[in-house]
Amino acid sequence: MCTFGRISFRTPCYTFYTMRNNTDLYTTVAQLMQSGKGILAADESDATAGKRLEIAKLPNQPGNRQDFRELLFTAPGVEEYLSGVILYDSTIRETTDQGTPFADVLAARGIVPGIKVDMGVKPIPGFDGEVITKGLDGLEDRCKEYFDIGARFTKWRAVITIGDGIPTDECIELNAVRMAEYALVVQSQGMVPMVEPEVLFAGTHSLAEAEEVTTRALTVLFATLKKYHVDLKGLILKSSMVLAGDTYQDQSSCDDVASATLRTFKLSVPRDVGGIVFLSGGQTPKRATENLQAIASYGAQPWPITFSYSRAIQEPVLIAWQGKPENVTLAQKVLLYRTRMNSLAQQGKYVSGEDLKDQK
Ligand code: G3H
Repeated sequence: MCTFGRISFRTPCYTFYTMRNNTDLYTTVAQLMQSGKGILAADESDATAGKRLEIAKLPNQPGNRQDFRELLFTAPGVEEYLSGVILYDSTIRETTDQGTPFADVLAARGIVPGIKVDMGVKPIPGFDGEVITKGLDGLEDRCKEYFDIGARFTKWRAVITIGDGIPTDECIELNAVRMAEYALVVQSQGMVPMVEPEVLFAGTHSLAEAEEVTTRALTVLFATLKKYHVDLKGLILKSSMVLAGDTYQDQSSCDDVASATLRTFKLSVPRDVGGIVFLSGGQTPKRATENLQAIASYGAQPWPITFSYSRAIQEPVLIAWQGKPENVTLAQKVLLYRTRMNSLAQQGKYVSGEDLKDQK
C-alpha cells in the first residue's frame, strides 16, 4: 500500500517515484561531474570530525569543527576545482561567523551542497564482522528539509569488509536493497542519490580479492537498483578504488590499481549511470591523486569519473592549520593546491613531480 496525500494505492511507491520528470536530477549530475572538478567530502559525523581535529591537535568542540569547515568552504578560488561538497546534518545547519549558512556560501560559489543521509552502521545479527547501514526511517521528511536548506544531492555509505569468508552474499544483498530504497526516496524528493558501497582498504587481502569483491558488490547493487526502477542517469556511484589491503605484503602499482578498477567498472556498472566518484579510503593524499591520474590516463570511459575525497584532501589542510587563526591563509592555500592536483589528475594531466610541495 502506498499513500499520496489522502489517496492510497495498492501499487508500490517506486512506480510513482519513477513517474517523476527527472530533468533536475540530470542537471545536478552534470554540475557535479564537470570536467576538472571533484567533490569534497566534509560529511564526517561529529564523532568522526573529532578524529580529524586530532590531526591539528584540537579538541572535538563545535567551535573547532565550525572554524575548520568555514576555512574549507570560504577558501578563495576553491570553486575552480570543487563541484560539490558533502555535508553532515549538523554542518548543513551551521553558518559562518558572519551568520551565512554554509549551504548558501557554497551555492553562491557555484558549488552544489550535498548531505549524508545515512545514520551509520550496525552489526547484522548472525553475520560476524558484517554491518548494515541505518537511516531509512524518516528519510523522506529529512530529505524535504535538506532540500529546503539547499542540498541537491545526498550520500548513503554501506561498508563491505574483506575477511575470512566475508563479505557474504547476504550482506551485499541486504545493503543493496537498502541503497535502492534510499535512492528511490531521494530521487522522489528531487535530489541526486550517491550510493557508496565502500570496500574497506584495511586488511590483508590481495588486489585480486579486492577486484572480485568489488565486482560482486557492484553487480548486485546495480541489478537491485534496476529491479527497483531507480533512475541510473540521475544517480552517482561513489566507489572505492580496487586496492590490495593496506597490510597486504605487496602494494600494487598505480597502473595495476587503475586497470583492476576500470575492469571492475566495465563488468558491473551500467553505462547509463550518471557518474562515478572515488573515496580516498585511507590512501595518502599523494597516492590518491596518483591513482586517479592512472585511471584518467586510460582515457574516456562510459561515465564521467572524478574524486570525492575526505581524508586525502583534509589531512594536509589540518596539518597546515593547527587551529591557529594566523595559519588560515596557508591552510587554504594547501586546500587549493591539493584540489588543483586532483583536478589535474581527473583530467589525466597530473605529473608526479609537480607534487613536490605535497604534505602527507
Ligand atoms: O564515506 C566516506 C567519505 O565520503 C570519503 O572519505 O575519502 O576519507 O575515504 P575518505
